Amino acid sequence: MQRAGGKLLAEVEDGVGLITFNQPEKRNAMSVEMWEGLRDVLDAWAEGEAVRVVVLTGAGHKAFVSGADISQFEQQRGSDDARREYDRRVQPGAAALARFPKPVIARIRGYCLGGGLAIALRADIRIAAEDSEFGIPAARLGIVYGFDAVRQLVDLVGPGHARMLLYTGARIDAEEAVRIGLVNRIVADEDLTETVLDLARTIADNAPLSVRGMKRVVGEVLRDPAERDLDAVEAAVAGCFDSLDYREGRRAFMEKRPPRFVGR
Ligand code: COA
Repeated sequence: MQRAGGKLLAEVEDGVGLITFNQPEKRNAMSVEMWEGLRDVLDAWAEGEAVRVVVLTGAGHKAFVSGADISQFEQQRGSDDARREYDRRVQPGAAALARFPKPVIARIRGYCLGGGLAIALRADIRIAAEDSEFGIPAARLGIVYGFDAVRQLVDLVGPGHARMLLYTGARIDAEEAVRIGLVNRIVADEDLTETVLDLARTIADNAPLSVRGMKRVVGEVLRDPAERDLDAVEAAVAGCFDSLDYREGRRAFMEKRPPRFVGR
């Protein structure tokens, strides 16, 4: 599947959906059309069993995503009115990622900046190559990040490191990123693809209702207490106990064989 004139690529293999941000000549900067394409792909993959886990990555070796496509700013984000229209087109893609019910892994190599880092923050797990660099240059462009993106950053690294990144706009390397909790793991550049694929397959082989249920529960834990949907948490727990997969998991253990889960 291709979107945004080929600047967003999507393919599925063995339950793993791979989305590639494909604008390498601009370090995979995100255009409005790429955000719209991201929404289409994620909406298509949200239900059913064809995709059990999603991997996000950037084309080429130089960047995951270098942020929003600044070349569109003059025309599309040049004033507050224009910004509202820009947000109206971009937000559904960001929201589709934030509410995507299955695990998302960001496979990061090279620059992961601004809106690119905001994409990685919305993933469940971030695996980075040694040569990755992270930063939020918003203060160098004269813009402010909104509530959701800042909250995701603060949730992950705490307010101290979040302030450092936001106020300075400085870039940090992969070592620093893993030290402050911004990424889960660093791997050698040549091992990145295999490591992420192994991780994705491990998750894809697990019981889908369990994995999705746990994603839901983590999501509820991170929400404001007043907004938490504890009934949804209870439903996720209860749904698994009545599932075919729970029966299969028990049997497979007793029969000393790997389980084969169907997602029901
Ligand atoms: N939007 C639009 N174009 C971008 C871009 C972005 N976010 N990031 C890079 N590009 C373009 C550059 O303009 C350049 O285009 P050109 O070849 O027509 O001159 C091309 O990509 C290569 O970038 P360049 O700066 O020459 O490469 P580099 O490897 O030296 O540096 C970056 C890469 C990502 C560090 C640098 O391009 C950069 O700082 N980009 C902006 C990052 C940013 O501010 N992101 C936040 C946006 S909200």
